[in-house]
Amino acid sequence: MRTVIFYFTGTGNSLAAARRIAESLGDTELIPLAGLREAPGPIRPAFERVGFVFPVHRFTVSEIVMETLPKFDLSSTRYVFLVMTMGGIGNGAVRYVKNIVKERCGRSPDASFALIMPGNFAPMQKPPVGPKVERKLAKTDARLKQIIEAITSGRKVGPGWDPLSITLRNLTKGGIEKNKGKGDTFYKVDERCTGCGICEKVCPMNNIILDVRARPTWNHDCTSCAACLNFCPTQAIQMDVMMGTEGRGRYHHPKVSLMDIIAQKTRV
Ligand SMILES: Cc1cc2nc3c(=O)[nH]c(=O)nc-3n(C[C@H](O)[C@H](O)[C@H](O)COP(=O)(O)O)c2cc1C
Ligand code: SF4
Ligand code: SF4
Repeated sequence: MRTVIFYFTGTGNSLAAARRIAESLGDTELIPLAGLREAPGPIRPAFERVGFVFPVHRFTVSEIVMETLPKFDLSSTRYVFLVMTMGGIGNGAVRYVKNIVKERCGRSPDASFALIMPGNFAPMQKPPVGPKVERKLAKTDARLKQIIEAITSGRKVGPGWDPLSITLRNLTKGGIEKNKGKGDTFYKVDERCTGCGICEKVCPMNNIILDVRARPTWNHDCTSCAACLNFCPTQAIQMDVMMGTEGRGRYHHPKVSLMDIIAQKTRV
């Protein structure tokens, strides 16, 4: 069955998962959602099977997904699946996105999966380093095998039930909707900045502009992906929120490169 997977990624987890699924299914195209920001809807993918893979952000999904997902018309698609990567707590978000697809895209996803991967948001969850990354990814791989098996057999799978994450989503959603695009409010840069411009290049929203001193400025059109935070080569980007970022490490998926992240902005 010909398949297309639409993905969004900040630090490579979702792209690595999408690639792994694509390899196993065969005859699968990968398309970045970030490249569809300007695309007019409805988008009717000419594929029998359509998948979406992207991360949970703040117990929900980020702005870029909310902007692009409702453009899809999936009413003629044979099988639709949704895989949401997360650091630990996100079934409530999977449930929420499943309902968006059902209400806005002409049909409910046949299968919706939560996939735990290394957390990439240092203020909330200290990212793993060294052998811990491999250990976490080995667990992810085991879960991915189950997901791939379910997709290959065309199984119907509902999102899991997780009262904690549903409650957290309900408690935080008002603030997130009100502060749309402003996830960058707490970003700042310290003296380790070399002016290399990598943060500007990785930002999928083109929200970062270097000022006259070649220091990044954030312009409140942020999708909260944490690519800038994690890809800065000198760890000069900090966040003063929750547990902060100083000395808490950075993360990106070991098989996903800086170029892969930059490339997802390519207009489709
Ligand atoms: C701003 C932000 C908020 C996040 N919120 C959650 C969350 O609510 N629950 C969770 O389990 N993981 C959360 N995460 C972790 C990511 O969902 C997880 O690391 C994901 O696999 C990252 O995927 P990516 O590398 O494709 O961007 C958050 C990450 C960021 C950057
Ligand atoms: S990536 Fe880091 S070092 Fe490079 S310009 Fe941005 S903040 Fe400065
Ligand atoms: S400013 Fe940083 S966190 Fe916000 S969208 Fe751009 S890269 Fe992602």
